[in-house]
Amino acid sequence: MKILEVNDIKKQFDNEEILKGISFDMEVGQTLSIIGSSGSGKTTLLRCLNFLEIPDCGTISVNGDLLYFANYTKLKEADIRKNRHHFGMVFQQFNLFPQYTALENVILASKLSANSKEEIEEITENGKELLRKMGLEDRMDNYPHQLSGGQQQRVAIARALALKPDILCFDEPTSALDPELTGEVLKVIKELANQKTTMIIVTHEIGFAREVSDEIIFMDDGVIAEQGPPSQVIDNPLNERTKQFLTNYRK
Ligand SMILES: Nc1ncnc2c1ncn2[C@@H]1O[C@H](COP(=O)(O)OP(=O)(O)OP(=O)(O)O)[C@@H](O)[C@H]1O
Ligand SMILES: [Mg+2]
Repeated sequence: MKILEVNDIKKQFDNEEILKGISFDMEVGQTLSIIGSSGSGKTTLLRCLNFLEIPDCGTISVNGDLLYFANYTKLKEADIRKNRHHFGMVFQQFNLFPQYTALENVILASKLSANSKEEIEEITENGKELLRKMGLEDRMDNYPHQLSGGQQQRVAIARALALKPDILCFDEPTSALDPELTGEVLKVIKELANQKTTMIIVTHEIGFAREVSDEIIFMDDGVIAEQGPPSQVIDNPLNERTKQFLTNYRK
């Protein structure tokens, strides 16, 4: 069963076409990594999936349900909010709320829709469990400024998981971290991949992408220039532009 089908997504900014017709799909439990040069449109694509940007044309379906198609004219704010629930987002900058503890950050959004004390207790227990999974059992009551960048990013991952998204999306989750903190974040993402969490990871960590991904997309200038398993795209790229990108990367 396809969990995600993206078809011919285009997006312009200031009359410049940034996404020039992006199509791909994903199976449940897959990890897909998106690599490519700066400015190739990777973040814009993730933002379109999450409706932080509205695509100019194309369709996006999750579990067979059409979330977006261009002729839909104007999406209502309530529809957009509902559609967003399919995607969890983890950004480069962790974007935690500084005035809330790690646990509060994780459970805040779920608590908003809770209707009873029991439900809140369940949400809290689930939040604690997620933080334990992220190796943060002794950090639940700390505020973001009391945590390292790697710990904050793991809180952000727990927060995204708390909303039980169909697809967890990462935009360069380690690029704001010192090298020694990168490993601890990559480790939890790898663990999620082992547990068959459906994920899209935009990353410059090519070695990591090779290790965890079922599929790699190489984006170049707003198009998917090459797509396939890591053994092809990273180890034996067919496309000249992929080869060039990887050569520059390895220099
Ligand atoms: N809101 C916007 N308004 C105008 N131009 C934009 C906007 N968002 C992105 N762009 C432009 O779209 C292009 C692609 O940007 P995007 O952030 O998607 O690239 P990227 O592949 O994520 O790059 P990086 O690897 O540096 O993060 C860039 O030229 C950028 O300047
Ligand atoms: Mg980007």
